Amino acid sequence: MVIICPHCQKEHSIDESRLPPNVTKVRCKYCKEQFDIISPKPSAAAAQPPPPAQKSTEPRKIAVTLSKGGVGKTTTAVNLAAGLALAGFKVLLVDTDTQGQASFMLGVKPKAGLTEFVNNELSLDEIMTQARDRLWLLAGGRSLAGLKRVIDRKDFGGEMTLKEKLSTIDNKFDYVVVDTSPGWDPLIVNVLFYVREVLTPVSLEVMTLQGLVEFLKSMSSIQKYNKDVALKYILPTFHDQRVKKSNGILTKLEELYGNHVCTPIRYNVRLSEAPAYGQTIYEFAPGSPGAQDYRELIRKVANNPKLFT
Ligand SMILES: Nc1ncnc2c1ncn2[C@@H]1O[C@H](COP(=O)(O)OP(=O)(O)O)[C@@H](O)[C@H]1O
Ligand SMILES: [Mg+2]
Repeated sequence: MVIICPHCQKEHSIDESRLPPNVTKVRCKYCKEQFDIISPKPSAAAAQPPPPAQKSTEPRKIAVTLSKGGVGKTTTAVNLAAGLALAGFKVLLVDTDTQGQASFMLGVKPKAGLTEFVNNELSLDEIMTQARDRLWLLAGGRSLAGLKRVIDRKDFGGEMTLKEKLSTIDNKFDYVVVDTSPGWDPLIVNVLFYVREVLTPVSLEVMTLQGLVEFLKSMSSIQKYNKDVALKYILPTFHDQRVKKSNGILTKLEELYGNHVCTPIRYNVRLSEAPAYGQTIYEFAPGSPGAQDYRELIRKVANNPKLFT
């Protein structure tokens, strides 16, 4: 029989004849969630016939986004993607920022990326850069300005451009992590029509709390048309315990957004040094507070408290 993990939606084929009679629970080999095999309420997905063997299920699709710059979006997208890959997942990192910082942070120099992919200009092998074990990159950069014009020029359906293209390849991955540029433009709208989960890094400064409220207003205008996208994680960044204001904003965030708020990423100079070496924080300073905090984020996102322990 085929069972589907209720947490990560991955499928597992189980040979019932080899199952000991007293076993009622199994652990998902991908996200490590434990769940009942004989579920009294089978999910809608489980009730359907299994899809063809070559097609796996949809990945988790997470956008790291907030309209304000300098809040730790790219640092988070890169270290989230790299950390999930270290944890054993197959990850695609999509850089939708014209600055193309994700490539720089990973120390790779892709010749092509997202623009060429959407415009069908090159083969997939030429477009995807394998940055680490289990981690692939669809690079951003200046050429994305042209992509924005392509999206703008479409008479209708422009907001679905990214979704239509990425959906053709994303089932090869467990996670797709999307880094975004600051501001609000057609590409960010495209990202929010593609992903299901949104992670917003919030630098612990007053202005960005306002930025979060404004961003959530813009997001709710997308949610009218894409009911599948939701704010899942608020990640406080640049946390400095010695600064009273930093703690005050953290408390406010927790009051307003409760469970969505993740354990903060502390201010850590190692996080700002690592990119110059083209290294992730786990490579550059594995014992640093920055690496510890991002590992904690991976545990939360993968819903597995035992990862890296
Ligand atoms: N927790 C942190 N502690 C110290 N420096 C950080 C931290 N997070 C990010 N940085 C640094 O702050 C700057 C802005 O971060 P970045 O991830 O590029 O933000 P964004 O993508 O939102 O513009 C970068 O130089 C980065 O190295
Ligand atoms: Mg950035």
